[in-house]
Amino acid sequence: MTTSWALPDNPKLQEFVDLAGALATRASKAFAAATSLDALEEARIEYLGDQRGQLRAFQIALGKLPKDHRPSAGRQFNTVKQQITDAYESRKLQLSASNAPSAQLADPTMPARQQWRGAKHPVTLVIEEIEGIFRELGFTIATGPEAETEWYNFGSLNFPPNHPAMDLHDTLYLTGDVLLRTHTSPVQTRTLQRYAPPIRVLIPGRVYRRDFFDPSHAPAFEQIEGLCVDEGISFVDLKATLTRFANRFFGKRPTRFRPSFFPFTEPSAEMDVQCGVCGGVGCGVCKQTGWVEILGSGMVHPAVLEATGVDSERYTGWAFGMGPARIALSRYGIPDIRLLYDSDVRFLEQAAAQLSAKTSE
Ligand code: DAH
Repeated sequence: MTTSWALPDNPKLQEFVDLAGALATRASKAFAAATSLDALEEARIEYLGDQRGQLRAFQIALGKLPKDHRPSAGRQFNTVKQQITDAYESRKLQLSASNAPSAQLADPTMPARQQWRGAKHPVTLVIEEIEGIFRELGFTIATGPEAETEWYNFGSLNFPPNHPAMDLHDTLYLTGDVLLRTHTSPVQTRTLQRYAPPIRVLIPGRVYRRDFFDPSHAPAFEQIEGLCVDEGISFVDLKATLTRFANRFFGKRPTRFRPSFFPFTEPSAEMDVQCGVCGGVGCGVCKQTGWVEILGSGMVHPAVLEATGVDSERYTGWAFGMGPARIALSRYGIPDIRLLYDSDVRFLEQAAAQLSAKTSE
């Protein structure tokens, strides 16, 4: 304790007030200078100690002041005591926090934890890539409602009444004749109603099927539909466009068309691409056939055109439908379609990283 700060035995009021203020400043500095809890405790005894603490001398002096000086000196004493106590408590909190085990273990040179970032689902990436290829070929993107009437989903597409696909086992009905669309083909009808040929549209969307007997089929999945209607369109256009698409999307792998049947196309064909896993020799992925089916297609049935008032003598067209999830499997060698729907973030992150790397090649 430096003598210049010493409190005289019988201080005057002003002296008392000044010296008490100075004491508060010194105490705060001493607490701030303490770098450990032990050092802080020493400083506390020096200023706030019951027996010989510096504040105690002021308490004694207060009692010796003339009576009429005591109220203002008492106020100053209380203020100073509060200031010193607060300064002590806050420094104690600081030192305790930096003494906590976690603070001692913290390594400020450690790299920050990676933030979670969202990523596009592999099926979305495939859809976007397919959209890009068809955009280049002059197609625009169209969408339609997921809740449809029986007429849009079946009737307008030349399904005969009582076709088995309309059975409750296959189709999710909402109310009356309103159902969840089982394919994106009803958007063909909506497009033909709304726009006059020439038409070139690509229609991505979600479709629903009951299919609960087969665990390898999801009740909701994505489809991409394509429709091209104009004067003088023939099967040649269908083959050329879809082959061009397959070559862009799968690389120069052989493709083939097989005759097939759909109520809304005549003739109809399914398109295969050579299995990318075995190169056509036969493996588990292609069920030993060497080929993987990628889409259904065909020349738009005249009845479909007529259902929307398009003159089928003047206009012809072709259409196709495919499942991007299955396409993602065969292109990227993903072994099980359920991986795409399980929402396991570890798989999805890995797949998305792999797909976006390949897409930007
Ligand atoms: N709608 C059919 C399905 O869901 C797929 C399809 C096949 C669409 C041939 C077409 C087509 O437009 O021409 O299985």
